[in-house]
Amino acid sequence: MAAELGATAALTPHSGRGAASQPHQGRLPRHVAVIMDGNGRWAARRGLPRVEGHRRGVEALRRAVRIAGEAGISYLTIYAFSAENWSRPQGEIADLMGLLKRFIRKDLAELAKNNVRVRVIGDRAGLSPDIVGLLDEAETSTAGNDGLVLVVAFNYGGRQEIVRAARALAERVARGELAAEAIDEATFAGALDTRGIPDPDLVIRTSGEVRVSNFLPWQCAYAEYVFLQELWPDFDAEIFAAALAEYARRERRFGGLGEGPSGSGAP
Ligand code: FPP
Repeated sequence: MAAELGATAALTPHSGRGAASQPHQGRLPRHVAVIMDGNGRWAARRGLPRVEGHRRGVEALRRAVRIAGEAGISYLTIYAFSAENWSRPQGEIADLMGLLKRFIRKDLAELAKNNVRVRVIGDRAGLSPDIVGLLDEAETSTAGNDGLVLVVAFNYGGRQEIVRAARALAERVARGELAAEAIDEATFAGALDTRGIPDPDLVIRTSGEVRVSNFLPWQCAYAEYVFLQELWPDFDAEIFAAALAEYARRERRFGGLGEGPSGSGAP
């Protein structure tokens, strides 16, 4: 715990010290998105059931939220359950649903107290009514907060999100509310689940897998990716600091010659 607090303190935008002994020069991503991978392997290596890996994954998630808030990151998006995760065994799906319910029931008051605002992305159609109710409650009860925005990707798939957005825009065109030629990138982004949320600057994936897995394909067009060997349940302040330090070393060019989508110097 002491080590964690020390490393967390080193993550503040102005301290210039990193837990991984590598300064990130204060260049902090505004939005970090995380693919929390490796729970099953973490459990298997210890001869434990997979659900234990997911339980420890929830603890790592709590740590990540706390560290992100303390570091001054504005948005943290977590890939909690993908549209493709339904292909897992029924028992594991039930475990993951149970963990989500417990996470919201147990942690919502704490998140609200810490000024965290929860947003949920993904397809709510097809989810059980109790899950939808909890996701709605998490959003509405924290809507007035202006601290860290925790974006929970649940039953989320990037291609599915793009299809839903295209369909919604097509319906508006069919109703005569929108001219097809008026659709531009901003209109399209506004039809996605992530409307109003800036694009991720940094995507972290744990467990050594080097894949994007249908996670925010539109939004991450210019994101920096950091792939870590550590398994998600081991994720802590030091690992987070190392990822932030790696991000700070990258030169973002957005297809141009310098920082900013049009070389404007914007982050
Ligand atoms: C990947 O590990 C992780 C997931 C499928 C889901 C992430 C879920 C959590 C961190 C816990 C649940 C949290 C909430 C809020 C629902 P894996 O099972 O694919 O690991 P493996 O690749 O080692 O098998």
